Amino acid sequence: MNLPPTLSQFLIKELTDHPEKHDLVAIMSDLATIGKIISSHTNRAGVAGIIGNAEKINIQGEEVKKLDVFCNDLCKNYLRQTGNFAAMASEEEDEVVDMGEFGKNAKYVIAFDPLDGSHNVEVNLPVGTIFSVNKLLPQFDRTNEKQFLQPGRDQVLAGYILYSASTVLVFSWGDGVYEFTLDQGVGEFLLTREKMSFPSECEIYSFNEGAYKYLANQDKKFIDYLKEEKKCSLRYVAAMVADVHRTLIKGGVFLHPAVDKKETGEFKPKLRLNYEAKPMAYLVEQAGGLATDGKFNLLEIAGESLHQRVPVFLGNKEVIDYHLKIN
Ligand code: F6P
Repeated sequence: MNLPPTLSQFLIKELTDHPEKHDLVAIMSDLATIGKIISSHTNRAGVAGIIGNAEKINIQGEEVKKLDVFCNDLCKNYLRQTGNFAAMASEEEDEVVDMGEFGKNAKYVIAFDPLDGSHNVEVNLPVGTIFSVNKLLPQFDRTNEKQFLQPGRDQVLAGYILYSASTVLVFSWGDGVYEFTLDQGVGEFLLTREKMSFPSECEIYSFNEGAYKYLANQDKKFIDYLKEEKKCSLRYVAAMVADVHRTLIKGGVFLHPAVDKKETGEFKPKLRLNYEAKPMAYLVEQAGGLATDGKFNLLEIAGESLHQRVPVFLGNKEVIDYHLKIN
């Protein structure tokens, strides 16, 4: 029987060919384990009684779901024991998390969105986990926010796990984008795509159309251009991982611009720079696309605070470039 390589086989080969990648190989294997656990929990969420709110509001002012808490604790506790991380940042943690004694010799820091789009679980729609790994900056204390305020381009590993009809792990460590699909029966991730690259056509735009009237004029013009000139179709799941995954495979653009809902003249973005925008931008560039905040390449942005929000425009290089020009 001709089976694609499992993630374990792939990682062992990587280690043989590039012994210097030892730590990243170990990290990737640990992240895959986390993905398997979250996948099994999200599948059983209804029957296990872990759907619903945790009666808590996070630092973003958003309602925390029970599954957000589960996934955050899992990421924190599991990765702490591995000794690979000095510190962790998460959507669900107000401050940088110190990995303590376990992380005293660690060379990396990790930023997480443990369960992106968690509102989707209740209605059986896709959710995901996003991760971004950087080298520890020895000049700063490990819990200093600056550890996480490194330009997106300095990530050494970035990716996501999408829990949908199948669970897929998509990542890059700088030599293209890989996709592994979880065979639930066997309990292994199998290589399903490598050197992923955006299709050249741009036939889909992914955007919350309900927000159109709150956009800045230049963003309205861009959406009009996509609909009227490019004749794009609209697809929107409202879980970044799912929307970016479809964009990577089917092509097109994913847009989450700043909006002025109160009509005060102040445009506010929603997506988080350090654990949503930067890792996705890294994958997008590795797949031949472009990701910006509307003005700058997201990979050039270091950021000013841990939970900073940014507008996100990503996907087809030509079309995102056009948006930069009209902005
Ligand atoms: O950041 C959380 C999130 O659920 C993303 O996964 C998603 O892209 C976005 O919010 C959807 O926001 P909205 O429903 O406002 O378009």
